[in-house]
Amino acid sequence: MLQIEENVSLKNFNTFGIEAQARYFVEISREEQLRELFMDERWQRIPRLVLGGGSNLLLVNNFDGLVIRMNIRGIEHQINGDTVTVDAGAGEVWNDLVNFCVDHGFAGMENLSLIPGSVGASPIQNIGAYGVEIKDIFESCRAFEIATGQIKTFTNADCHFGYRESVFKSTLKGEFIITSVKYKLSTIPKLNLSYGAIKQELTARHIDNPTIKDVSQVISAIRVSKLPDPSTIGNSGSFFKNPVITQEQFSAIQAQHPNISHYPAGEGLVKLAAGWLIEQCGWKGKVVGHTGTWKNQALVLVNHGGATGQEIYDLSSQIIDSVKERFGVILEREVNIIQ
Ligand code: FAD
Ligand code: EPU
Repeated sequence: MLQIEENVSLKNFNTFGIEAQARYFVEISREEQLRELFMDERWQRIPRLVLGGGSNLLLVNNFDGLVIRMNIRGIEHQINGDTVTVDAGAGEVWNDLVNFCVDHGFAGMENLSLIPGSVGASPIQNIGAYGVEIKDIFESCRAFEIATGQIKTFTNADCHFGYRESVFKSTLKGEFIITSVKYKLSTIPKLNLSYGAIKQELTARHIDNPTIKDVSQVISAIRVSKLPDPSTIGNSGSFFKNPVITQEQFSAIQAQHPNISHYPAGEGLVKLAAGWLIEQCGWKGKVVGHTGTWKNQALVLVNHGGATGQEIYDLSSQIIDSVKERFGVILEREVNIIQ
């Protein structure tokens, strides 16, 4: 029998550490429980929030609806030649899965080490770091359709993955609950060491022929040096996406700001480093009431203790305004804003 709790504090369920209450709260540990839950039509009608690790959302208010906390566990794998298929429950902790794969010599996820959150959320924004995105290793996922009570399988192509984007964030937003994800890995590593600091850090450690474990450790160390640990400083990682603009817009900005941080983004597009833009506007490390931006990474907004979701949201609006005024670039929030 499912247990629906009432008036539950979400403070320990969001990495910003925001105090907010859920009107109703249910934990799901088996796929069938979703069908059981939605047999009661009441839950179809009220606002719903599917929750994994709460590491990519900002709770602006109390949540006057049903929070569905995903806790479906289990990791299985199958080896076929040099291909490994790993199937994990949505409620598995993402970094535990990465460690499991790295320890077993299954290559492909090592660059995504130490990203917080759950397996079930990994396709939602096509998590990415250090030159790799989920789309590079995603085989398929199972998802519960709320309107029909059916389980559907989404292939890689069905997900329409893009930079911090998928069909689950756009056209199908709120319609499906991911219950498990299959990843395609390999026993033969193809290391991706292209991203800036990785090679530098390997050299500093005198590692000439890195293993996937070395790569995982080096990336974890780089991340720890740049990003605040949510267990001590509340945050949700990058608060904004890196903006993608046309070559024409870029040339005009570069003429004014020759040192601007940027990367080619294909098809005449250029990606700017939002952290650089924000730092140039004087926000890096700034403390505003209970909030601020991180001293080592201006793209990360933080809760210095006791902040409300509204305060963090207001800070993000001020940052958007100042970047727009200085560079004419409009930053888009990457973190999911839960009103
Ligand atoms: P939640 O925050 O719980 O949910 C995020 C969204 O997904 C919500 O809209 C939620 O409703 C939805 N959702 C969650 N689970 C499901 C499900 N099973 N079915 C349907 N919808 C679901 N992200 C990166 O891409 N790269 C990084 O390098 C990175 N670094 C980070 C560093 C730090 C310190 C922090 C705090 C965050 C970072 N993030 C990064 C963001 C975050 O870790 C990822 O977005 C992660 O995938 C969120 O997982 P979660 O389980 O916490 O999702
Ligand atoms: N930069 C600054 N000032 C800052 C921050 C960054 O000038 O305060 C410059 C850096 O010097 C560098 C560039 O911006 O030249 C890029 O910085 P970094 O390598 O730290 O990466 P990022 O673009 O800021 C992105 C992702 C991260 C991911 C890293 C590593 C987005 C929105 N963010 O950050 O993802 O871990 O690359 O691949 O794409 C997240 O999504 O939560 C997240 C942390």
